[in-house]
Amino acid sequence: MTIKPGTLYGIGVGPGDPDLLTVKAIHVLQKVDIVYTAASTKNDYSLAVNIARAHIPAETEIRTLAFPMTKDRHATHQAWEANARTIAAVTAAGRQAAFLTLGDPLTFSTFGYILKYMRRLFPDLPVVTVPGITAYQASAAALNMPLVEGEQSLLVVSGAYGGNRLAGQIEKPDTVVFMKAYRNVNGICAALENADMLAHSAGVVRCSLPEQEIVADVKTLESRSPNYWTLIIARKTDPYAPQEE
Ligand SMILES: C[S@@+](CC[C@H](N)C(=O)[O-])C[C@H]1O[C@@H](n2cnc3c(N)ncnc32)[C@H](O)[C@@H]1O
Repeated sequence: MTIKPGTLYGIGVGPGDPDLLTVKAIHVLQKVDIVYTAASTKNDYSLAVNIARAHIPAETEIRTLAFPMTKDRHATHQAWEANARTIAAVTAAGRQAAFLTLGDPLTFSTFGYILKYMRRLFPDLPVVTVPGITAYQASAAALNMPLVEGEQSLLVVSGAYGGNRLAGQIEKPDTVVFMKAYRNVNGICAALENADMLAHSAGVVRCSLPEQEIVADVKTLESRSPNYWTLIIARKTDPYAPQEE
């Protein structure tokens, strides 16, 4: 007898507020047999599970998968492949599985790595991605700051290594989002200053969580001990200025 394989659902649980989980994510969480989440990536585990906890039935198994935080590319690829194989063994046996990620599963997310290996090694096993509200969308909402309008452009980059990704743009975007703005803030601020974007910038720390903080002067982040849940949004122009015709 052939077994009908189960589906792996990549679920984005949103930025932190459980009310920002989508209805679709809730429906999926109520039907899967196993919920996977990443361990050892700076509290992703506890946070993603905590956000979704109310919607995971008590009998559903929750398992953690280790994603090592190392610069050793070989070790990370080995871990991603091993994790994909672990999940594939479960869905190939006919069980339904979900993999939780903060924000959106396809935006700077561990699910992206799982997806790569699932597609490469097990192209016949079904995978469904359930989008989530990204931290930068929730932060723009917290700031009441339009991200892009009309013909404007948006650059979403990692700030882990500073502002070089903005500095390297010949034509600067109208809006830039620096994710991972928890270190090298000096470099991010210098790039914003050079691009003339510092005046219309703001930081958001722990967006949508009870401890949420809006940082109106992002330069003040330079002298603070960085919080992992920090991002910076900056615009070239005043978002509330009348539109030029
Ligand atoms: C690995 S990325 C995860 C992004 C996530 N997949 C998303 O779609 O938002 C981690 C970075 O996202 C940002 N981030 C995630 N959640 C956040 C929150 N609640 N408040 C502020 N920044 C957040 C921070 O810049 C953090 O360093």
